[in-house]
Amino acid sequence: MQIVKTKTELGRILDGHRKSSETIGFVPTMGALHAGHLSLIAASKKVCSITVCSIFVNPTQFNDKSDLEKYPRMPEKDAEMLEKAGCDILFMPEVSEIYPKTDTRKFDFGYIDTVLEAAVRPGHFNGVAQVVSILFDMVKPDKAFFGQKDYQQVMIIRELIKQLKLKIEIVGCPILRDADGLAMSSRNLRLSKEERTAAALIPKVMLGAMQLKESGRNMGQIYAYVEKKLDPNPIYNLDYFAICEADTLKEVSSFEPGKAYIALIACFVGNIRLIDNLSLNSLS
Ligand code: PAF
Repeated sequence: MQIVKTKTELGRILDGHRKSSETIGFVPTMGALHAGHLSLIAASKKVCSITVCSIFVNPTQFNDKSDLEKYPRMPEKDAEMLEKAGCDILFMPEVSEIYPKTDTRKFDFGYIDTVLEAAVRPGHFNGVAQVVSILFDMVKPDKAFFGQKDYQQVMIIRELIKQLKLKIEIVGCPILRDADGLAMSSRNLRLSKEERTAAALIPKVMLGAMQLKESGRNMGQIYAYVEKKLDPNPIYNLDYFAICEADTLKEVSSFEPGKAYIALIACFVGNIRLIDNLSLNSLS
C-alpha cells in the first residue's frame, strides 16, 4: 500500500493507473477505522481495480470544536488495517493540503439539509460537501463507497454529485453491526463499558419499532414505544427518532402501502451521540 500525503503525488500515481484503464474506487474516511470501513474497502476491491482510502478529520464539518478535538486519531493502526484489507493507496493529507485557503462555498441541498442531523448540527453537511467535493476532485474516482449508517449523508452526497455534474457512482453499503446489534462507529470507542452495554438498546428499539409497524400499530404508538423504552434510564438522551419516506426524508404520520420508509434515530448514551437507522420495509 502506498501512503500519500499530497495531492500532486496522488494525482501522479492515479494518472498512471487511469492511463492503463484501471477503475478507481474511493473510500473517504476520518480514520479510527473499524470493520464497517473495511467492508467499504472490500466492496470497492470487488468492483474496482484500484482502491484509494483517505483519512482526513475534516474540521469544517464539526460545529462542536471539542468534538473535533476528541475525535479519535490512530493513523498507524488505521494504516495497518488498510494494508491487511488490501487497500492500494492511503491518502492522508494535512489540513493545509485540503484547504490551502478557507473554503467559503455554501451549498444548497434544500429540504434534506434542514431536518434530522442537519437541524441538530447546522453547517455539518456543508462541511461534508466541501471536503468530499475537494477529495473527489483530487481522487477523481469512478465509484465512491459510503456506509448507510450515515443515511442522510449519503443522500447529501448523491445530491452533491448531481449539482456538480460529476460522473461518480455513489455506492451506499449496508450498516455493519457488532454481535449485540450496535451499529459500528468510530464513536463507539469513546463509550465507557457501562455506556457500551447500554448502547445495545438503540438497535433493539429500532427493531421493536419495525415489529410494531408490522403488527399494524399506528405512528403515535410506535413513537411512544421508542420514547418509553429509552426514557427511564438517564444514561439515554434521545435527540430524535423519526419515521420518514426513504427517498425524501419527509417525516410521515401514517404508512401507505407500497412506499419505502426509514426509521432514523440519534441518541446520546452518556456524552456520546450515536446515530442509527433501519429500513422499515425489510419484513413486508
Ligand atoms: O462519514 C465520514 O467519515 C465523513 O463525513 C466523510 C464522508 C469522510 C467526510 O469527512
